[in-house]
Amino acid sequence: MHTRPDAGPLTPEPLPVRGLRHRFPGARGPWARLDGAAGSQALDRVIQAISDYLSSGTNANTEGYFEASVSTDALVARTRGLLGALLGADPAGFVFGANMTSLAAAFARSLARQLGDGAEIVCTRLDHDANVAPWLAIARETGARVVFADFDPVSGRLPTANVTALLNSRTRLVAFTGASNALGTIPDVAAITAAAHRAGALALVDAVHLVPHHPVDIDALGCDVVFTSAHKWYGPHAGILWARPHLLAELYPYQVRPASDEVPHRWQTGTLPLESIAGIAAAAEFLLESGVRRLKEREESLFAPLLEGLTRMPHITVHGPRELTDRTPTVSFSVAGRHPDSVARQLAARQIAVWSGSFYAHEAMAALGLDTSGGAVRAGISCYTEPGDVDRLLSAVSELR
Ligand SMILES: Cc1ncc(COP(=O)(O)O)c(C=O)c1O
Repeated sequence: MHTRPDAGPLTPEPLPVRGLRHRFPGARGPWARLDGAAGSQALDRVIQAISDYLSSGTNANTEGYFEASVSTDALVARTRGLLGALLGADPAGFVFGANMTSLAAAFARSLARQLGDGAEIVCTRLDHDANVAPWLAIARETGARVVFADFDPVSGRLPTANVTALLNSRTRLVAFTGASNALGTIPDVAAITAAAHRAGALALVDAVHLVPHHPVDIDALGCDVVFTSAHKWYGPHAGILWARPHLLAELYPYQVRPASDEVPHRWQTGTLPLESIAGIAAAAEFLLESGVRRLKEREESLFAPLLEGLTRMPHITVHGPRELTDRTPTVSFSVAGRHPDSVARQLAARQIAVWSGSFYAHEAMAALGLDTSGGAVRAGISCYTEPGDVDRLLSAVSELR
């Protein structure tokens, strides 16, 4: 049994009335940091944990017989336990790597061996390309077929029916996003997972944009494979793959021969990013103590005026959902007559950090007809965002007429 998110083993701390910005050294300056969807600022405790690990004298490679190595093994095991509590999943299924993109590519390569003739993979046009390109590459190499579930370009929603309509006895995998990093849309992960299972397929979820903004309970959702990146939830730059331990045992990872063949170690290549794992533990503790649900409520209270303010401006087109339900506090928009890069540059001149472009949501930008005009501008709320940041963005955008 894993302790459920928001009922974690740690005592929830009251969220400070003055907000959380003082806990994020990188967000304390004059900039309004609304760029968190591409990478959040690191929490003070994460920075400290990384520094402590490196300076402790108990840092060493894993699986040795001396104290520092034993202590490092304990750190890795503890981090898996914290992730299990945070994400409601078996700790034995967590694999650490450089980032989501490389973990997804490695997993896809291994799964390819099992696909067999005539296999179909369902992807979605809402996804970040890190959960599309590997499957297209596998299809090219194996003769499998990738079929795409479309989202509704007006609402930005991915109806479950658009996925289920593509399922059949040849479907081996449904690879879909837990939340769109471009539009913020949150599909019905449990329903899509259940439909994939009914068709005899695996359900693989890119939860990179979901985990920082929404409680995730993998056991309850039922999915087979989940990706997250700690650099999106106040931790260090590192990727995390979770898969059912029996899958990690059955599939064949591309590994060096002397490496441990035990699950999950057989999936981890080379020396682990150990100081990052110390940072991941600190970030997971923070989310468990703060309660992702409470952080979500705070983020929503800031996002509501941001979304409403943008939607009301006649020179702004908001892409994706206009409602606050089943979405993350991330919004993409276009400014009439302006290239997204020029908007981002003008906002940067006022010390407002936003992203412009496709956000690697390649298919989504094409489906919205934005791929040939530079994509969109994206702003998002993080737990360190303050009302003044939203006011500054709205005021600056309103002047871009
Ligand atoms: C939804 C989503 N999936 C995947 C990725 C890729 O993650 P990583 O940077 O860890 O490779 C990102 C990064 O922006 C993302 O937002």
